[in-house]
Amino acid sequence: MGLYPVLSFKESYPNDLLLSAQEVSRHMSVKKMAKYTLVQISDLHVGESGYRRDMIVTAIEEINKMKPNLVMMCGDLTWNGIREQFLEAQDMLQNIDAPIIYTMGNHDASNVGYLIFEELFGSRFVEHKDDTIFLMAVDSSEPDLDTGHIGREGRNFIDKAYSKVDKELLKVFALHHHLVPIPRSGRERDIMVDAGDMLELLMHKGVSLILSGHRHYPWVWRLENMVLSYSGTSGSPRLRGSPCQNYNIIKIGKNTIEISTKLIGGPARRRGRYHWGKRGITSRSENST
Ligand SMILES: [Fe+2]
Ligand SMILES: [Fe+2]
Repeated sequence: MGLYPVLSFKESYPNDLLLSAQEVSRHMSVKKMAKYTLVQISDLHVGESGYRRDMIVTAIEEINKMKPNLVMMCGDLTWNGIREQFLEAQDMLQNIDAPIIYTMGNHDASNVGYLIFEELFGSRFVEHKDDTIFLMAVDSSEPDLDTGHIGREGRNFIDKAYSKVDKELLKVFALHHHLVPIPRSGRERDIMVDAGDMLELLMHKGVSLILSGHRHYPWVWRLENMVLSYSGTSGSPRLRGSPCQNYNIIKIGKNTIEISTKLIGGPARRRGRYHWGKRGITSRSENST
């Protein structure tokens, strides 16, 4: 069976920008200009029936060729949070030749999996700072529930963390659960229970980019001065209409953010290009450099 057995890319991603040859050339030149590459990957689901280890291995090979500055793993490493699944995920992910930040998903929190996660991958709350971005990754899961929750104490913690960030840095926030519904999610039932409070907080703190997984369908929304980037699944067979497993590539330039979805073993397609500055995302601009 080929990599794209059911749908073409265009059919699968109705908000995609389909690139002409000229646009591909410009896309490549933009890539050269971007100084920072952030890979957003999630939902390996090691241990799920039919999970695609081969796709994850191929994704890691692709990511290593890209030489990204940072990889953000947005949760659901496992199917149900058991040690053997975490160990298999770790065995694969340790082959990534780039700094990698992990956050937990609802599946990882099953069966008290958060204890094993902490043992193998470290803290469930991470702050990362370099010369381009400040990224905070938090555990939004609750044990044995699919819904996400941050809570008042968590929001206070996040509030304080972003208050001390240098204004020149791009502020990024990562969590597993989604804060805004996306298409092809079926009957929406497990959006973050305090999504509204989180969106308000992140907007006021000047966060420009929010990274989530969970829904297994890649999508990008712009809301106020923020862009919400959702990665699809890199290993689950539950593709929700995508042609194959995938992940996101985010190119960050001096004042630009460009988000693409990379089909594993296949092409990448641009989802959106934005300007960012001290006031967050200020415009969507497909043609300017
Ligand atoms: Fe998932
Ligand atoms: Fe999930």
